[in-house]
Amino acid sequence: MALARSADHEDLMARAQQYFPGASNGNAALSGEHSFVIAGGQGAHVYDPDGRRWIDYLLGSGPMIVGHAHPEVNAAVREQLDSGSTFFNLNDKAIELAGEIIEAVACADQIRFTSTGSEATFFALRVARAFRGRDKILKFEGGYHGNHDYAVMSTEGQAASDGPYGVRGSSGIPECLEQEVLIAPFNDLERTTAIIEVHHDDLGAVIIEPFQRALSPLPGFLQGLREVTAQYGIPLIFDEVVTGFRFAYGGAQEYYGVVPDLAAMGKIIGGGYPLAAVMGKTKLMSYFSQPDARGVPVAQVGTLNGNPIAAAAGLATLKILRRPGSYERLHEVGQRLRDQLQATLREHDVPGQVLGEGPVFHLMFTDQPVRTYQDSLTSDANKNRVFHDALMATGVLKPSAKGYASLVHSDADLAETEKVFDAAMAQVAQLS
Ligand SMILES: Cc1ncc(COP(=O)(O)O)c(C=O)c1O
Repeated sequence: MALARSADHEDLMARAQQYFPGASNGNAALSGEHSFVIAGGQGAHVYDPDGRRWIDYLLGSGPMIVGHAHPEVNAAVREQLDSGSTFFNLNDKAIELAGEIIEAVACADQIRFTSTGSEATFFALRVARAFRGRDKILKFEGGYHGNHDYAVMSTEGQAASDGPYGVRGSSGIPECLEQEVLIAPFNDLERTTAIIEVHHDDLGAVIIEPFQRALSPLPGFLQGLREVTAQYGIPLIFDEVVTGFRFAYGGAQEYYGVVPDLAAMGKIIGGGYPLAAVMGKTKLMSYFSQPDARGVPVAQVGTLNGNPIAAAAGLATLKILRRPGSYERLHEVGQRLRDQLQATLREHDVPGQVLGEGPVFHLMFTDQPVRTYQDSLTSDANKNRVFHDALMATGVLKPSAKGYASLVHSDADLAETEKVFDAAMAQVAQLS
């Protein structure tokens, strides 16, 4: 049964239809008959304009790890508001946040701010190419690095390909980029190494999500990638937009014990405001201010880069995360959600498996082992849609992509979620 919406809510939906192509303001996290407008968020919950409540595992696509409208984050933002909202020039909050990140993240000798994670990966690739003096990059099939032209190649949702040349994942991307972006299979070190061995002299960078979407790296995969890139002097970029300050305070590089040359971060470091960053070893980062062999430095500028309100929100969020027990709780909540999903699969005899690590969880309706992007394509899309539609209809907001746990999901939220998972899985069981 479709969600009953008030006349005002229906009016908002109709205006979105009219104003935005595809009724999307730029993101389309919710779709189908149960989609709704979010009118507010408080802690682990979001509300529609009719006051209906959802337990939120979307968390703004990841930044809201301490919950919506956290009083300490709001207080930091309010205090900064009274001192002005943006200056373009250096500001104290951006410098303070830079110091905090550099202290926490192993690869970060220096940092540059951007407004979005897409820009952070874009500039990480640009500075790596400047340092190395080569144009091609290598990414992993199914990996997501934002929406710029180098990123939307052989990304999530696209058909499998044999590579090693990328396939454009969006209309409007120049065809010539298919020659510039090579792809390799995540978790297949042998094939990845073989591609790097053939193309190393053309490669300006290798970029990877160390935890790709919801795929955990197999033991030795990231270490092997680190070794082969170091052997050929190719900068290794970790896209830590998701994992940064989430898997551990020092990100995936601390969690997995592998240190890249550069990293991109976003989401958590902006505390729910537009801020992201590229960071890394001085020998690479210095190309942002030092001319390359042609006498040209790397161009990087943005009106809101290092925005003080976002930096204040980020600092307040990191302060909460530094408290003893934060990461233990985040990992515990993530594990409980994974266990609940696994139990409902068993109970309803539905073939599937639960992926994820730490505070990230993901369900796949396939009984094939899922280690690579191509494996993940065996998941049953119809069951996934039915399951997630049922969640949305009954008060749990989790998009069909991975879900995020927060510090404010309470035991009561988890108990309620378990019941909703169970009812949704019962609907899926009827399909099979
Ligand atoms: C791994 C990864 N990289 C980059 C991005 C792009 O970040 P943004 O949406 O802030 O541009 C995302 C966004 O979800 C992401 O998950």
